[in-house]
Amino acid sequence: MKNDTIKRKLDHINLCLTDDVAFKQKTNGFENYDFEHYAATEVEFGKIDLSTYFFNKKISYPFLISCMTGGTAEAEKLNEKLAAAANSLNIPIGVGSQRQALEEKTFHNSYKVVRKNAGNVPVLGNLGASEIVKSRNVINDVKKLIDLIEADAFVIHINPLQELLQMEGDPHFRGLLKSIERLTSKIKIPFIAKEVGSGISKVCAKELLNAGIKGIDVAGSGGTSWAAVELIRNNSDENYFREWGLPTSYCIRTINDLKKDHKFTLISSGGINNFDEIAKSLLLGADIVGSARKILLEVNSNGVDGVIHLITDWFESVKKIMYLTGSKDLKSFKKKKLIRKSELF
Ligand SMILES: Cc1cc2nc3c(=O)[nH]c(=O)nc-3n(C[C@H](O)[C@H](O)[C@H](O)COP(=O)(O)O)c2cc1C
Repeated sequence: MKNDTIKRKLDHINLCLTDDVAFKQKTNGFENYDFEHYAATEVEFGKIDLSTYFFNKKISYPFLISCMTGGTAEAEKLNEKLAAAANSLNIPIGVGSQRQALEEKTFHNSYKVVRKNAGNVPVLGNLGASEIVKSRNVINDVKKLIDLIEADAFVIHINPLQELLQMEGDPHFRGLLKSIERLTSKIKIPFIAKEVGSGISKVCAKELLNAGIKGIDVAGSGGTSWAAVELIRNNSDENYFREWGLPTSYCIRTINDLKKDHKFTLISSGGINNFDEIAKSLLLGADIVGSARKILLEVNSNGVDGVIHLITDWFESVKKIMYLTGSKDLKSFKKKKLIRKSELF
């Protein structure tokens, strides 16, 4: 059981680095939109402000390094570098599932290293829905995981497709909303509900918000397909479920409607691989944007500096889009509308 978890973690990192695990046909949908160019811009490019708040902490860019890893020696090296990049950029970072830390202490450092290197930036804990419902004392377990990394917020990943296809998977989520309600009422830091690549629908988001969730990370379709990862691990050539899920742009656009009745942080992730997708996420309603596999590939090839350059370059281009749409800060940028490409011709 313990070794299974460690082996699975390693498989996940290795497959994401070496194999074609992206959706093949479905995209995250952002290519269907364009920006409305504003010719009479009076914005001073050099003064464009990209800072924002993630819950109560000020961050320099509306961007986070999505939850990826922990629980192995390799994970410790990756997490150390990712955390150093997050610290240098002053952006939030998530750890991967902390299930392994509940099972034994051998690799506690692979998680602790994140807080150690991330300074005071927001750090997000992480545990899967199946662990949440299985736990005999979920409040204590989650508190321990929060303490381990001095987490500012806690992510519950809800991954039914992955559990269904994974050979060691556990697709039993009965009682999940009740457990979430208990957690959110007893533990004071904000909880975020997150998929891992199949997206969260508006109906589902509403139930999660009613259970006390304060952040929705849609982790929609169009980027890494966790069905693909698990199907490769099973030596299966099944293709239908590889493409299952709701595109990221659709999730953001529809869940954004819930802001009329609920106060929450909306996170766009799932196939975010460039500045255009970041900027369009913000206009469709995201408060912050996250990326996983692209950042993993970058840190693996070019280390901490590579990640810092990639994200800094992305936001230099986001600033150009802000200038060209007449937006001096994120608040005014987020008020701008995207045009559906079908309306342009
Ligand atoms: C190597 C790797 C491990 C991951 N492990 C976790 C995890 O433990 N918990 C989690 O919530 N998401 C995990 N994810 C999913 C990502 O956070 C993200 O939701 C998903 O990969 C889609 O984003 P992407 O298209 O930018 O990769 C992992 C992603 C990668 C690449």
